[in-house]
Amino acid sequence: MAKSTKQRAESPLTPGAPVPQHIGIIMDGNGRWAKARGLPRAMGHRAGTKNIRRVLEEAVRLKIQVLTIYAFSTENWGRPRAEVGHLMRLISQSIRDELDELDANGVQIRHSGRLSGVDPKLAEQIRAAIERTKHNDTIVLNVAFNYGGRAEIVDAIRHIMRDGIAPDEVTEELISRYLYTAGLPDPDMIIRTGGDYRLSNFLTWQAAYAEYYSTPTYWPDFDEAELQQAVAVFQGRDRRFGLVK
Ligand code: IPE
Ligand code: IPE
Ligand code: MG
Repeated sequence: MAKSTKQRAESPLTPGAPVPQHIGIIMDGNGRWAKARGLPRAMGHRAGTKNIRRVLEEAVRLKIQVLTIYAFSTENWGRPRAEVGHLMRLISQSIRDELDELDANGVQIRHSGRLSGVDPKLAEQIRAAIERTKHNDTIVLNVAFNYGGRAEIVDAIRHIMRDGIAPDEVTEELISRYLYTAGLPDPDMIIRTGGDYRLSNFLTWQAAYAEYYSTPTYWPDFDEAELQQAVAVFQGRDRRFGLVK
């Protein structure tokens, strides 16, 4: 408790300035975090998975309404079989270990991505977690898992065509309603850990006007102070949305 009071006192945030409603995080650098410690990559993924709770709790304190975390991309299937298997087991284990507490804390779980192609048992676990938490309203934890921004747009177009929508009815607003993120506000900020400056197929449509923030910190080390720092940078950005001030 004393520790968190101290953190508040030293906060880089500007009181009264808006915080992002929705933050997307590209949780990158687990492998390099492990390598730097002489550990196998799997240990990096384990540490990275553990870190989600710490960042989620700080996001709640900062009154962020939606946190989208990039957990597994459609491209990540191309990694070595053992690593993919480990990542799948970690997701399943996290749902098993964390769901009660997430639910008790009012976290609403959502999923963005394709469940086809995912192990049916894991897919069922994900569906059950979404169903169980759907009325929670402290924060939305949207897990981008087996997610690709392009796949999402393909899925939306297929769905729109199947629904027999006429060409003139296709608008930006309609497309947004057919994405996995239907009903969620667009992300105001995308954070990428691990130092790279790319989107890697994350929230391709939704991030059109998001503020980008990249930090060299590897995901397992991205802590409360790092999130506060990112939000403080956001507060200093001038968002013009194509207009003249
Ligand atoms: C991000 O960490 C986690 C996933 C992509 C699942 P990486 O595994 O990409 O870590 P680096 O980039 O190799 O360090
Ligand atoms: C992006 O990280 C995907 C996730 C964090 C889940 P990657 O490590 O897969 O991205 P690239 O390969 O550096 O673009
Ligand atoms: Mg990476």
